[in-house]
Amino acid sequence: MSLNKELEKRRTFGIISHPDAGKTTLTEKLLLFGGAIQVAGAVKSNKIKRHATSDFMEIERQRGISVATSVMAFDYRGKRINILDTPGHQDFAEDTYRTLTAVDSAIVVIDVAKGVEEQTEKLVNVCKDRNTPMIVFINKLDREGLDGIDLLDELEEKLGMTVCPLSWPIGMGQRLKGVYNIFERKLVLFRPHGKGEEEEAIVIENIEDEELDKQVGENAAEELRGEIEIINTVYPKFDLDAYRSGKLQPVFFGSAINNFGVKELLDCFVQISPPPLPRPTTVRTVEPEEEAFTGFVFKIHANMDPRHRDRIAFLRVCSGVFERNTNYHHVRLNRSLKFSNPTAFMAEKKSVVDRAFPGDIIGLYDSGNFKIGDTLTSGEELTFTGIPSFSPEQFRYVVNQDPMKTKQLDKGLDQLMDEGVAQLFTKMDNNRKIIGTVGALQFEVIQYRLEHEYGAKCGYEPISLHKACWVKSKDKTALEEFRKRRKNNLALDKKGQLVFLAESQWALQRVQEAHPEIEFFFKSEM
Ligand code: G4P
Repeated sequence: MSLNKELEKRRTFGIISHPDAGKTTLTEKLLLFGGAIQVAGAVKSNKIKRHATSDFMEIERQRGISVATSVMAFDYRGKRINILDTPGHQDFAEDTYRTLTAVDSAIVVIDVAKGVEEQTEKLVNVCKDRNTPMIVFINKLDREGLDGIDLLDELEEKLGMTVCPLSWPIGMGQRLKGVYNIFERKLVLFRPHGKGEEEEAIVIENIEDEELDKQVGENAAEELRGEIEIINTVYPKFDLDAYRSGKLQPVFFGSAINNFGVKELLDCFVQISPPPLPRPTTVRTVEPEEEAFTGFVFKIHANMDPRHRDRIAFLRVCSGVFERNTNYHHVRLNRSLKFSNPTAFMAEKKSVVDRAFPGDIIGLYDSGNFKIGDTLTSGEELTFTGIPSFSPEQFRYVVNQDPMKTKQLDKGLDQLMDEGVAQLFTKMDNNRKIIGTVGALQFEVIQYRLEHEYGAKCGYEPISLHKACWVKSKDKTALEEFRKRRKNNLALDKKGQLVFLAESQWALQRVQEAHPEIEFFFKSEM
């Protein structure tokens, strides 16, 4: 099959949600539809439960699961669908942000009773920054929840979305009768506990049709007609270009656990979601149909067993065809590398692949050559952009507790940072190292891994910091002045970029006011 045909088939997306909204359940139902799994319960949640913060066996077990479910591919209606798993635990949010750089679209799951939650907001903002097309799935309709219109208001107000409902609930909780599929003008009646079989859909072209009254009762039918009228007047009509450019977000309603409304979502998704999109690099935009292969690493998963310190680098193919046993150019190292066992992921199975196409994710066994963000090409000197680090939220000084093992500590820290476990800053006034993370869990993971994989002992000392901001200025004299005056609060990140360590929101504001020529950024790519 030609590159263009393969490309046209690919749909690579991520499901994002606040923990417990139903991401794992929805993923599983999608895989059931695709025939990639046969029974419910096959997809394990990659949630690291709260009690597990000091239980490293649990973390390791979860990490094992998360590698198995990092990418789940299945075929549906002539499309090859790649679902990229995003960690649910908020301490791993940074991992999720990076995974979102490798998708072409996203499905946002929202709990009907809880509405928009904190983590939903953060993740949707990351998608919005990249104009990623999003479809919203409002889940748990079998429970009492917020009113449909109120939920749409919340999506608009809290997430800044322009929503376009493509299905609409008829009742909710105990009174749930079904959903009306506005996209295909079909009525789908609610039958709990479907297991992947086709739902019974009744075509109702015109909602004035009496068939609707027969199916759901007069009251529910009238209510639906009233609501559809509001929808038709208040919300924009579906527009493919607006959706694909991230300006319009279709909304579906359903109940993942009951496999209800999921098929409508999937059928619409395969029709409207974008095939692999062009991607920016340091020199030009790479189009997926270009013949020369390019791709980038967005995730690195290390084996925690010290006897096998191999890692899997997850690479997204951006253009051309990736082939096994072929030499590719590792741009940052300026080296040629070839891979004898590139791995593809089909639901629970891993297998060696000979060829991979744009949109595909492959796992490359790595002995330390890769960092997150690395680019591989057929020879061209370019680097994919848009894989930033975000300001950490928690900071601690690193203390070397075994001076005989300084080298091991440095090497371990270096490698863990390459994997994106946390960020390392070196203070400019005293050269002390500071680790910054999104959540407290990583500090324990780092300590444990340094000891078990590198034989180094690391402790921490508290440091009270609010944010790390990357800084730059066009005005060289002002930057020099800033460097001198703020020496005690400056550090370098791993790439040698200048970072201002703000002690509080107030302190940051004060410094910003005192140095108007300096620009402050909350992410490393400016
Ligand atoms: P997550 O990956 O987004 O964190 O959510 P997950 O799918 O694990 O779902 C969280 C909880 O919500 C699970 O219950 C799941 O069964 C439930 N759930 C998912 N979809 C629906 C739905 O449509 N309706 C209702 N009523 N519940 C739903 P749990 O009790 O936390 O876990 P479990 O013991 O069922 O696995």
